[in-house]
Amino acid sequence: MTVLNMNLGENSYPITVGQGLLDRCNEYFDLNRKVFIITDDGVPNKYANTVANLCKEATVYTVKQGEGSKSIGTLEGVLVAMANAELGRSDCVVAIGGGVVGDLSGFAASVYMRGIDFYNVPTTLLSQVDSSIGGKTAVNLGGIKNIVGAFKQPKAVLIDTDVLDTLPKRHMANGLCEAIKMAATSNAALFGKLETLNESDIYNNIEEIIVEALKIKKTVVEEDEKESGLRKILNFGHTLGHGIEANEDLGNLYHGECVALGMLPVTFGEAKERLARLLKKVSLPTEYSGDIGAALSFVSHDKKCASGKVSVILCEKIGECKIESMSIDEFSKLVLNHYN
Ligand SMILES: NC(=O)c1ccc[n+]([C@@H]2O[C@H](COP(=O)([O-])OP(=O)(O)OC[C@H]3O[C@@H](n4cnc5c(N)ncnc54)[C@H](O)[C@@H]3O)[C@@H](O)[C@H]2O)c1
Ligand SMILES: [Zn+2]
Repeated sequence: MTVLNMNLGENSYPITVGQGLLDRCNEYFDLNRKVFIITDDGVPNKYANTVANLCKEATVYTVKQGEGSKSIGTLEGVLVAMANAELGRSDCVVAIGGGVVGDLSGFAASVYMRGIDFYNVPTTLLSQVDSSIGGKTAVNLGGIKNIVGAFKQPKAVLIDTDVLDTLPKRHMANGLCEAIKMAATSNAALFGKLETLNESDIYNNIEEIIVEALKIKKTVVEEDEKESGLRKILNFGHTLGHGIEANEDLGNLYHGECVALGMLPVTFGEAKERLARLLKKVSLPTEYSGDIGAALSFVSHDKKCASGKVSVILCEKIGECKIESMSIDEFSKLVLNHYN
């Protein structure tokens, strides 16, 4: 078991990673109050039930699985149910699910009565390596990802690697992509390790890989909690990635798969070759069969280019990166250069 501490002054919190933690979550969370548990219908319900049984008074609220639940409509349903459960300011929300449940629940906890306590139990690899820490919460609106949201740091994060036993393999690769993203920009040793291990050994060593990825994200968030600079490097591959995600029918390509496709055009030379090789090894896509021009047109609608410019993270050497502000035209050229 490993405990990392996210050091953010009064918003600091522990992140505990290990096996068999769910059964003991009352040792990590204060569940001696009204607890509103949010999960989705694709997450095996035994996880939410395990936590509910450890609470003094729990309500389990289940949303539909999939990105479509990161919506104002679903958020409204959650908030109404929280009010019906008579949750007060000193009660709390527990998210049990992947990034969708985590982003939605964190946002609900941030606006309900101007903010109540929030705990996160991430159950996908993506949410365990990335989305459960850092405090970004949001829903989508009008086809634009994460356009309505808030910074809301959790009180504690509990990462039980046993829950990955039920996660489909494609979702394991999807989550691994965010770890590859962090290694590519910030930690050549972790990238090298992922290159050396064969696919099944990566998953046999998943706890260590989760911890290494979390350490990278933690360092970045501690330095720049509200994304005024350095934190942008966590968006490596996401400018085009979000465009591809928006261009696909919901659920067609997963978030991590879109990020894989988004990283390649902004990676150069030997680094690009190494990245493509690693992505292929873990069954992540390296070719986009959709309309790349249409994906790019979503990029220009993205919230990050309100000024007509995009902040793009470029990787010329594994373990290093730089942030460049460029016009949509310059960015499109980079992308078309790679994919045509
Ligand atoms: N807040 C952040 O910093 C941040 C960072 C990265 C990604 N994200 C967001 O995260 C979302 C993607 O998250 P995701 O990839 O976890 O997807 P997800 O939450 O949709 O989960 C994927 C699927 O796995 C199922 N599932 C979850 N846990 C399971 C388990 N243990 N066993 C079996 N099935 C399980 C879910 O029901 C769902 O169908 C995107 O909306 C993305 O924008 C947020
Ligand atoms: Zn991401």
